[in-house]
Amino acid sequence: MREANLFYQMEAELGEGPVFHAETNTLLWTDILKKQLHFYSLDDNEVKTIQTDRHIGAFSFVDEQTLLVAAENGFSFFDIRQESFRFIADPESELPGNRFNDGKCDAKGRFWAGTMEFAPSSPNGNLYRLDGNQQITKAASTIIISNGLAWNQDNTKMYHVDSGRNTIYEYKFELESGAIQDRKPLYTFEESDGTPDGIAIDSNDCLYIAMWGGSKVIYFNPATCEIMDEISIPAPHVTSVTFGGRDFRTLFITTARDGLSSEELHQFPLSGSVFSVDIPVAGLPLYPYLPEERNVSV
Ligand code: BGC
Ligand code: CA
Repeated sequence: MREANLFYQMEAELGEGPVFHAETNTLLWTDILKKQLHFYSLDDNEVKTIQTDRHIGAFSFVDEQTLLVAAENGFSFFDIRQESFRFIADPESELPGNRFNDGKCDAKGRFWAGTMEFAPSSPNGNLYRLDGNQQITKAASTIIISNGLAWNQDNTKMYHVDSGRNTIYEYKFELESGAIQDRKPLYTFEESDGTPDGIAIDSNDCLYIAMWGGSKVIYFNPATCEIMDEISIPAPHVTSVTFGGRDFRTLFITTARDGLSSEELHQFPLSGSVFSVDIPVAGLPLYPYLPEERNVSV
């Protein structure tokens, strides 16, 4: 098993949702429970942290200054320089026990994000699609913990993790309309592997899967359901993965302190830090959110 390197030592409660912004050579991630956004500039090795007022589960870039975020109060734009939110819509205003968790844009710039209960016990989570015209579609329901999302290179398949079921699902995906159908459980992980969490797909259509409770990232071929490699992380609660660096040959990995006992935190003091590992097959940049009316300022 390969080992990841420590990239940035910190004590994130629930480090999540890493995004690499190539134009500014910056890695961003959220700490959902501390309501913080972190910006790590790889040019000068400096971190900037913004304290927000909400639990940001996931975000995508819109333009260099603007993020689209999903939090417990729905979707908003976030102006990075002004540190201010502009509300879009909340599809779950009737479900105050839920919050948004993982999310990502598809190749047409539609933002997908799913929900879970703050203290997950029932399948009350849903998966939503926010189109460029700000219309929201509920794409799936009865999810326990909505987590990682990815699409294959020819955009015929979408992968979606329900951590509450230890399972990664595969859908048929129609790029033009954004419709998903024919959900099938692709793979259910052994409990000893941990729980699948955030995912990222490389240019060979293979998935890196963060394993919460597994102290590792699994490299998985969804065409054969074969586990091809494992990367060990010195932190049990591995939350998410994203590609970045030069040529997108670095995998960045976020972790959490949340859910660990004081004994475990003592044993794994790097919990909450960000890790990185060089990968043999290049990853791909994430898609930004694409507002339909380009002349409407966000
Ligand atoms: C969620 C955590 C959850 C974990 C394990 C993460 O994506 O944010 O709250 O405990 O997945 O499945
Ligand atoms: Ca996650």
